[in-house]
Amino acid sequence: MKDAAPQTVYLADYTPFGYGVEDVHLTVRLDPGKTRVQSRIRFAPNPEAQDRDFFLHGEELTLLWAKIDGAAVTPQLSDQGLRCTVPDGPFIWEAEVEIAPESNTALEGLYMSNGMYCTQCEAEGFRKITFYPDRPDVMAVFTVRIEGPHPVLLSNGNPVDSGEGWAEWHDPWPKPAYLFALVAGDLVNHPDRFTTMSGKEVELNIWVRPGDEGKCAFGMQALKASMRWDEEVYGREYDLDIFNVVAVDDFNMGAMENKGLNIFNSAAVLASPETSTDANFERIEAIIAHEYFHNRTGNRITCRDWFQLCLKEGLTVYRDSEFTSDMRSAPVKRIGDVIDLRARQFPEDQGPLSHPVRPESFQEINNFYTATVYEKGAEVIGMLKRLVGDEVYAKALTLYFDRHDGQACTIEDWLKVFEDVTGRDLTQFKRWYSQSGTPHLQVAERFENGTFTLTFKQRTPPTPGQDEKLPQVLPIAVGLLSPSGDEVVPTTLLEMTEAEQSFDFGGLSERPVASVLRGFSAPVVLERAASRQERLFLLAHDTDPFNRWEANRALAQESLIASITGAEAGPDTAWLSALLEVVKNAAQDPAYRALLLGLPSQSELAQALHQRGVTPDPDSIHAAAEAHRQTRAELWQADLPMLARETEVTAPFRPDAEQAGKRALGSSLLAMQSRLDGGAAAQAQFDGADNMTAQLSALTSLITIGAADSALRAFEKQWRHDRLVMDKWFGVQIAYAPPAMAVEMAGLLTEHPAFDMKNPNRFRAVFGALAGNHAGFHRADGAGYDQLADWLIKLDAKNPQTAARMCSAFQTWRRYDADRQARMRAALTRIADTPGLSRDSTEMVTRMLG
Ligand code: PHE
Ligand code: ZN
Repeated sequence: MKDAAPQTVYLADYTPFGYGVEDVHLTVRLDPGKTRVQSRIRFAPNPEAQDRDFFLHGEELTLLWAKIDGAAVTPQLSDQGLRCTVPDGPFIWEAEVEIAPESNTALEGLYMSNGMYCTQCEAEGFRKITFYPDRPDVMAVFTVRIEGPHPVLLSNGNPVDSGEGWAEWHDPWPKPAYLFALVAGDLVNHPDRFTTMSGKEVELNIWVRPGDEGKCAFGMQALKASMRWDEEVYGREYDLDIFNVVAVDDFNMGAMENKGLNIFNSAAVLASPETSTDANFERIEAIIAHEYFHNRTGNRITCRDWFQLCLKEGLTVYRDSEFTSDMRSAPVKRIGDVIDLRARQFPEDQGPLSHPVRPESFQEINNFYTATVYEKGAEVIGMLKRLVGDEVYAKALTLYFDRHDGQACTIEDWLKVFEDVTGRDLTQFKRWYSQSGTPHLQVAERFENGTFTLTFKQRTPPTPGQDEKLPQVLPIAVGLLSPSGDEVVPTTLLEMTEAEQSFDFGGLSERPVASVLRGFSAPVVLERAASRQERLFLLAHDTDPFNRWEANRALAQESLIASITGAEAGPDTAWLSALLEVVKNAAQDPAYRALLLGLPSQSELAQALHQRGVTPDPDSIHAAAEAHRQTRAELWQADLPMLARETEVTAPFRPDAEQAGKRALGSSLLAMQSRLDGGAAAQAQFDGADNMTAQLSALTSLITIGAADSALRAFEKQWRHDRLVMDKWFGVQIAYAPPAMAVEMAGLLTEHPAFDMKNPNRFRAVFGALAGNHAGFHRADGAGYDQLADWLIKLDAKNPQTAARMCSAFQTWRRYDADRQARMRAALTRIADTPGLSRDSTEMVTRMLG
């Protein structure tokens, strides 16, 4: 257990470490209960530092002995690490510790998963492997010897030598300890090769458990595509002789960019048409790219301290989104990203967990791997690029890679590069990194004497610790359309810097229709009182695909809100007919049409109501959404069969954007059809499916209409040997359960023999799905809150990191009525009061309780 009184760390307190590390030699002798780690580290005083306090981090380690320059020393030990008196000049530190990977359920440091050893060191896990200055600004060259009976022994860098029961690795690139990795096990590989742009040959491997070899080909393709893309787009080539990827079943996150040895949650790399959906394929491609791109943005240039996390994450998410846009459809990717931003980042930024993209303090850094740091961090890069233009952005990135290679950097370093390239002062832009909260942007328009004027007002509501906000730089992309639908002013970037600012467009013969915030050019809440007529016009005519989708989204939201509040009896049928015409347009990308069929989530509707001062009632939201879907299906009944035929794929399965788009549209149509035919079409698709996308969409359609009993049994029987597919089985039954049954269903599934709370994927499959069943989780009697709290308390004792992250299911608690608020507060208080609660969860619940 961690200390009772958690300490807060502040960005402002940063000081460099008193010693630099020249090189590190580790010898790891593997044993489930008694692994020995011997270290030999060359330290030298850091001329840049004043403080000569020799403190090495170390947690849950048994120190066997320590020496300085060959002479035994007796350091002062605490549960955080050790202190020792050291010579004035350079010296060699040696130590041996014992650790127990088999009992490591936190999955941080060295742990075991299905008999294989693996490590996870970001952010502060290396200190659970040996005593070390475990901070990203200490970079060193590592040589690692692994001893163990396993056929495969891997670490970072290039292989040096190996023999029966041992292997040695050397990583020539200085790196922080969080990028250290080690893997040992009975693994098989999917090998390949890559020739870099300068003609260097690189060996590539994806290592998996025997039986999973058949699920590596797609990840390997994605890896090679990423390597090529980074050469072509950013001019960066790979810098070692070998690149290894390992799949592991027990992993807290998606994947980890350890130098030359990426470790992946098996869900984020293993893929096959039979077991993976199109969404899985797309996500795997993006995560492979993301981790690969970190080699430059994260590894070669790393973070000075953890407050700078967005330096590597925001930029790398931005890079992987560019990659996906290039590999697939850019508008579809953009719309998907905005849906995701609104679903995950907006609630965070608009609630008690709101924090700046670069936080200024934390208790547990693991709690800051958030949508704000990652996704808003990427939006900030996107805005910067929009403001300086593509060419200047490319120049700035080249300068960044040249100037800071091998360094541990800050956001100041990053912005300075852009200032030097552009001559611009980015002081105001930097507020995107320091101010938390989502800006709200109001728009008013006027037309007079041939001049159209847009007046914007920005305002960011107060967030924890930040009552007063200053105006931010907002890149606002605008286009103007004539009433007949021609574009009279093509996309123009307005740069807003004031709290209130007007922009004129002159020389117009008639009042135009404005398309504002094209491509979602800034991550704001747009408050625009557009008429229904105008939105219908934009849905039909906007040349910006994002804003066409956005106009439709607004229409959907207005219609749903009108039903929820009782202002209208049912959905806006005139809009639904207009939408049907658009959806029937075969010239449009099916993936895009599928996105037009999506409705705002129930949680998003709750937030929208809350923003209008209406207390959201989860049951009426659910009822309105259901009624809407039913009415839509009935209205479109005659057209569904023809549309469905158009989505049929006859060619062999390919997980590319083209086929995936057809299947996505097909799935939406099937969900509608099921409401009309009692599930006949869905059952037929389920029975005949030869790929997981088809099988799972049929299954969810059947669950939604309550006709899935036999399909669920068949699915379980077919897939009980496959952990990743079984995660889906666990998840969909809860996510799509009728709200009144979601809690019972989750309870029942925790009794299933295949439920294993120690596996984060399985735990999330069940409880992530519960939290995602909006009306089910927010059941009026509080049973959802109590059940989740019970399980988070149990999980916290084993895996604090995953438990703490999942506590955020409660972050929106202040949106709801007094009764639900009281029940959620009680659940949070109960978690907070648990004796021995981790620092991770303690920080999360205290922040939420305010
Ligand atoms: N750095 C990893 C990524 O973004 C995420 C991660 C964080 C993984 C912490 C494990 C632990 O790709
Ligand atoms: Zn990352």
